Amino acid sequence: MSNDGANTIPLLTPHKMGRFDLSHRVVLAPLTRQRSYGNVPQPHAILYYQQRTTKGGLLISEATGVSDTAQGYKDTPGIWTKEQVEAWKPIVDGVHAKGGIFFCQIWHVGRVSNSNGIIPTNVSYSDEAFQPNGQAPVSSTDKPVNSVHVAKFTPPRRLETDEIPLVINDFRVAARNAIEAGFDGVEIHGAHGYLIGQFLKDKVNDRTDKYGGCLENRCRFALEIVEAVVDEIGADKVGIRLSPFANYSGAADSNPQALALYMAHALNKFGILYCHVVEPRTVKLGEKFETAYSLGPMRDAFKGTLIVAGSYNREDGNNAISSAYADLIAYGRLFLSNPDLPRRFQVDASLNKYNCETFYIPDPVIGYTDYPFLSSDI
Ligand SMILES: Cc1cc2nc3c(=O)[nH]c(=O)nc-3n(C[C@H](O)[C@H](O)[C@H](O)COP(=O)(O)O)c2cc1C
Repeated sequence: MSNDGANTIPLLTPHKMGRFDLSHRVVLAPLTRQRSYGNVPQPHAILYYQQRTTKGGLLISEATGVSDTAQGYKDTPGIWTKEQVEAWKPIVDGVHAKGGIFFCQIWHVGRVSNSNGIIPTNVSYSDEAFQPNGQAPVSSTDKPVNSVHVAKFTPPRRLETDEIPLVINDFRVAARNAIEAGFDGVEIHGAHGYLIGQFLKDKVNDRTDKYGGCLENRCRFALEIVEAVVDEIGADKVGIRLSPFANYSGAADSNPQALALYMAHALNKFGILYCHVVEPRTVKLGEKFETAYSLGPMRDAFKGTLIVAGSYNREDGNNAISSAYADLIAYGRLFLSNPDLPRRFQVDASLNKYNCETFYIPDPVIGYTDYPFLSSDI
């Protein structure tokens, strides 16, 4: 895709992110697709990611588990075993062959998991057991997820203070493995109410040790992970995703603005490459709320590249870039259903509609690599 010319739209202007020369600002958002059978990335992901690669474009992988306790959904990939690392290599190579820049999103789901598949209903969830030896999921708390789908989640076990460095080390090793697999860097998944969010947010974190209570203590776990990952692979390869305003799986905060600003300032000390923040309007996936909040204060505070995400289209993406509200825009559902999204934005083409029904099915083609490209480009 060429974006030469003075008349190019703001989304298709270049951006220098550390040592990466991005040719445009349309980022593939991390998208869990549940097609990594047995937690091992599969060859069909080569085509999927390649389809969404442009020369100089940034892609963020689907959330990828850091350990065998990190899983909460069927067939999501991991990066803690040699087999998983090897399986990622041809996928990363495929992106690099087309000139893309590829970051691996690393996560731990914490309490958003099920231990044993034993559900107190007449519905069989026999394949929804994700914890080794049927042990309880770990979290900042022992409070279960308060959800209408509560039966899906096993009450968690609160991590002991002296176990926390072990989990931090899992992120460190996962980051090392991601670099070994060829990724250009990692994105630490601190968003959407998973383990890091369970520490950050005061509606979940009820600890009384140095990882709970005041804002500084609640952010300690996230920042110690950042520190460990930076120490392992270098700040120029590290980003983090946050959703201070979101409320997934009960992970809400009573003062999200303060949380957002504290994290932005604290992250500056590590000089990480980027901070990727979910818009306040995206309180729950797929729903767009009116809100008076904005990421403007975070933008002003954070010194690295700011990526924003959440219900962006072509027009408001362009506006966000031209007003310097953000450096890059991550597109989720639109990029999922339009593999050539930057090109479509360039020529202002109509967009394929996404089909929610096929987001998470295990099929290696349907709803995955069969969304059409612009016919003029085939
Ligand atoms: C199918 C699907 C899977 C997702 N998986 C992840 C994920 O693995 N990690 C993550 O941080 N966000 C995930 N998200 C959230 C998206 O990255 C994005 O923030 C969200 O879809 C809002 O952006 P959009 O309005 O452009 O779709 C997922 C969203 C969808 C629709």
